[in-house]
Amino acid sequence: MSNSQLGRKVAFVTGATSGLGYAIANRLASEGFIVYGGGRRQANSSDEASFIHISVDVTNEESVQRAKDFIFSREDHLDLIVCAAGNGVSGSIEETPIEDAKAQFEVNFYGVARAVKAMLPAMRAQNSGKIIIIGSAAGKIGMPFQGYYSASKFALEGFVESIRYEVRPFGIEVCIVEPGDFKTGFTAARKKISPQNSPYREKMLTALGIQERDEMHGIDPMVAAERIVKLAASRKFPIRISVGPLFERFAIWARRFLPDALFEVFYRMNYKL
Ligand SMILES: NC(=O)c1ccc[n+]([C@@H]2O[C@H](COP(=O)([O-])OP(=O)(O)OC[C@H]3O[C@@H](n4cnc5c(N)ncnc54)[C@H](OP(=O)(O)O)[C@@H]3O)[C@@H](O)[C@H]2O)c1
Repeated sequence: MSNSQLGRKVAFVTGATSGLGYAIANRLASEGFIVYGGGRRQANSSDEASFIHISVDVTNEESVQRAKDFIFSREDHLDLIVCAAGNGVSGSIEETPIEDAKAQFEVNFYGVARAVKAMLPAMRAQNSGKIIIIGSAAGKIGMPFQGYYSASKFALEGFVESIRYEVRPFGIEVCIVEPGDFKTGFTAARKKISPQNSPYREKMLTALGIQERDEMHGIDPMVAAERIVKLAASRKFPIRISVGPLFERFAIWARRFLPDALFEVFYRMNYKL
């Protein structure tokens, strides 16, 4: 008898080998979910993860399909998808090679699309399901020298707004979670493009230095995991929620309500630009 036949909920979490995804996968498991958590890294034998590790590269269609086949070889339904796999490319728009910009979208945007597309037929067939996409505060506010990262997260905002109309008739709810700064492996994994003789170099190092300092002083990923567990249990599924330090949630609010020019002044001052 499969786990889901025994009445336990089943979740698939991408980006579960580190940071937010790892915290979310563990927290869901502690709530009784059967969790399949994926990433490219192998599970570490000293790892205290309480979920089932699956090897998945979200930039690779076959790898995502294999992950889906593995889950459905053991389960007869899927209640929740959390798409947390992501990384950061930083650099000026001008100096970032288009190959790096595409690679950014392959993980942060198409990686989400691949995971969602692979799992949707099963959710449609069962006429229920919840999908949580990890966006970013940088998907609401363009971040200086993280233009392609911001663009990939802005793209997810449109993706979520659109797909909600399409899948609600099948009982499927979708929400984008917009984290501010959390202390994870994200900062160390970020790719930085900053040629020695770049005319942008000084400003970029200053702005990115402030951004990375904020990340390293970011809050515990378990705070986001708590919020996501609550969301997963909730009957009310909003389009978006923001999680993270108060100042950053305020910035998202201010971006929406302040005139563009005024908000720019505020951000220029914040990042010494
Ligand atoms: N930390 C923050 O302050 C913050 C703020 C806003 C948004 N976010 C978003 O939160 C999400 C999680 O980031 P994090 O902060 O937890 O960073 P993290 O600690 O670096 O974790 C990133 C996760 O993504 C996975 N990943 C990266 N490329 C992948 C690929 N090609 N295929 C499958 N998995 C892949 C990594 O696993 P492998 O390396 O094993 O593949 C890892 O598990 C990202 O979408 C990020 O943009 C983070």
